[in-house]
Amino acid sequence: METGVEGHQRVRNCDEKALEARVVRYRDLVPCRNAFIDTRTPGSEAKENFTIIGPGVAENPEQHVHITEAHGFNIGGARQPPQCINSQHSHDTAEVFVVYSGRWRFNFGEHGEDAQVDAEPGDIVSFPIHTFRGFANIGEDTGFLWSVLGGDDPGRVLWAPHVFELADQYGLILLENGALVDTTAGQSPPAGVNAMPVTSREAIAKLRKMRPEDEDEVIARAPRPPRRGENLVIGSGGELPATKGFTVSRLTLGPDEASAASSPAHPEVVFVQVGAAQVHTAEAFVTLGKGDTMTVPAGLERLYRALGEGAELIVVRGTG
Ligand SMILES: [Fe+2]
Repeated sequence: METGVEGHQRVRNCDEKALEARVVRYRDLVPCRNAFIDTRTPGSEAKENFTIIGPGVAENPEQHVHITEAHGFNIGGARQPPQCINSQHSHDTAEVFVVYSGRWRFNFGEHGEDAQVDAEPGDIVSFPIHTFRGFANIGEDTGFLWSVLGGDDPGRVLWAPHVFELADQYGLILLENGALVDTTAGQSPPAGVNAMPVTSREAIAKLRKMRPEDEDEVIARAPRPPRRGENLVIGSGGELPATKGFTVSRLTLGPDEASAASSPAHPEVVFVQVGAAQVHTAEAFVTLGKGDTMTVPAGLERLYRALGEGAELIVVRGTG
């Protein structure tokens, strides 16, 4: 096997089986259809949420987590059919979406009225903390967003007040401990646990209001034609402002091209946006197809090699 990394110091045993255990295949993703408070609300009820790496922010503890190892950030996904909406909410940490498929509109503001940004496959959207955002599939096919949330514990979601009202109409109650109660399934809040208070006007007044002219701070469009090599999208000196806890880069490789071998100082997660690629270490390799996610542990020397016509990988690195 030609890996280009033989002879270098190996810091971790990672045979083929161990590498495969660090891969989450797109076809194997396990959706949760009742992860959040808006899961019954017409227009939102068909969305599928995924927690690929880390605990995520699901309000349903039964949501499947593919890889539970702490990375300092969470990787997830959302799959929605046309017209399906993800309701207005805010996070305490960075939230980044990579558009894998479909056409999407991201709306800012309590009701989505402040600004809109449309995005297509390959575009990367980064939301500032403490601002209401929501999004909808505006295309004609089901679309998938791959997401990054900052922190091992990204905290609870702050929902816009109307999201609580709609949930109540359809029998869902969000508790102050973050859990969901489904009254249509005969559930009732456990003793001593109160419902989450509806987000107050004071809390809303503290959120940032985005303006249409802030678009350049929010979206990095996929370069056309693609730019070879690794290009920093989110991070100091990147296309978009730095976020806490991780950076995001695009790694574009031509046919059979390989990156240089190196060892990441922090955990590194790669997502195959276009094409197919192999991840080689000193003793084994694994092949990734379009839509697959892999996590590479800190200190493991590796390189990426494109297969066929080339590949575009999204690379997320922890910053400690
Ligand atoms: Fe979110």
